[in-house]
Amino acid sequence: MDPVRNPFAPGAGSQPPELAGRDDIIQAAEIAIQRVLIGRHQKSQILLGLRGTGKTVLLNKIEGLAESHRHITSFIEAPEGRPLADLLYPKIHQVLRKLSMVENAKAKAHQAMRALRSFAGAFKISVGDLSLSVDPEVGVADSGSLADDLSDLFVRVGETAKVAEQAWTIFIDEMQYLSEGDLSALIVSIHRVNQKQLPIMFFGAGLPQIAALAGDAKSYAERLFDFPPVGALDETAAIAAIRQPIVDEDESISDEALEEIVKQTEGYPYFLQEWGHQAWNVANHSPIDMNDVQEASVLALKRLDEGFFRVRFDRLTPKERDYVIAMASIGSRGPYRSSDVAETLGESIQSLGPRRAKIVHKGMIYSRAHGDIDFTVPMFADYLRRIAPVSDD
Ligand SMILES: Nc1ncnc2c1ncn2[C@@H]1O[C@H](COP(=O)(O)OP(=O)(O)OP(=O)(O)O)[C@@H](O)[C@H]1O
Ligand SMILES: [Mg+2]
Repeated sequence: MDPVRNPFAPGAGSQPPELAGRDDIIQAAEIAIQRVLIGRHQKSQILLGLRGTGKTVLLNKIEGLAESHRHITSFIEAPEGRPLADLLYPKIHQVLRKLSMVENAKAKAHQAMRALRSFAGAFKISVGDLSLSVDPEVGVADSGSLADDLSDLFVRVGETAKVAEQAWTIFIDEMQYLSEGDLSALIVSIHRVNQKQLPIMFFGAGLPQIAALAGDAKSYAERLFDFPPVGALDETAAIAAIRQPIVDEDESISDEALEEIVKQTEGYPYFLQEWGHQAWNVANHSPIDMNDVQEASVLALKRLDEGFFRVRFDRLTPKERDYVIAMASIGSRGPYRSSDVAETLGESIQSLGPRRAKIVHKGMIYSRAHGDIDFTVPMFADYLRRIAPVSDD
């Protein structure tokens, strides 16, 4: 059918034509966003899920809701290895500039700018064009301990937002790339503003490994956040994700074809978009039928192998590739035991420890329970088995 009208949107962070199966998460977020404006206690959320399950899309959606409720928002995608202080500085600068436009918040904004200046000094942030013409405030946000200084700074921003009768909502995507110290400082700071009932909210997203926080950060995090799982869609939602966009274009799809797409994709959002996209293009006319979907499956898998899976595999070193291929050779579904992987590779678990840690750090695998590992990319083992066939002997 006409590729120009194709409604499906496979791609990282691409807004899907039908955001299916996420009503509960969206509703909880919208309530929290409204509560914070009237000074009521609210839990922030950290969305946890595998690759391609729709975390970024949800964060964008929630940002839109926050804006519609007149929150000032800051969206950060954590890149590997950048300190949080660097990422937050320009965002806080921008927020304070906005708040300083509000007449009765000017004095507070000025004070907060001074704290920001101290903070930039303490963390040697290269401020570029965003240097501040205010004097630093001695003794505020300048201790050099990120948890303390970020807390001071957040409190100042929160106080400013409060007198301006506004709220600030921070979004951080790919949270697993934050260092442990940055992550716990962030959590401690959010805890501080929460205790003081200041209007700052936080929404994060990342791979499931973030849940394995340590120490104080963990006990705070459990009280502060909900961790809604963002996984594969259930059957009803997966069907809606495919059928609704087609119907909206005045076209149709057979039940049998729909079932086949749900089966092939296991309801994973990225895969649903890819299958929907191919099935639409393959079909000559409505209804899209079983034959179309079978043809589309071959094309969709090829696209995933050359894109979604391939780019991730390419980020691994040859030794790391051996490791993940050994995982996949054990079976096409995880979790896998580290000891079994070690045995397959003929090495000790200890000697493989650093290699395993690097692959976790790259966000390719994660551990659900001690001694277990699994892929963060759905169906990645099947891909590896396609490119590095397993011998049966
Ligand atoms: N609820 C949904 N219904 C249908 N399609 C969806 C849904 N959520 C996301 N998608 C589609 O899935 C794909 C992946 O979405 P997104 O990039 O948000 O995933 P992600 O979890 O952020 O992945 P990654 O971990 O790789 O960053 C996009 O093509 C998007 O359109
Ligand atoms: Mg994402």
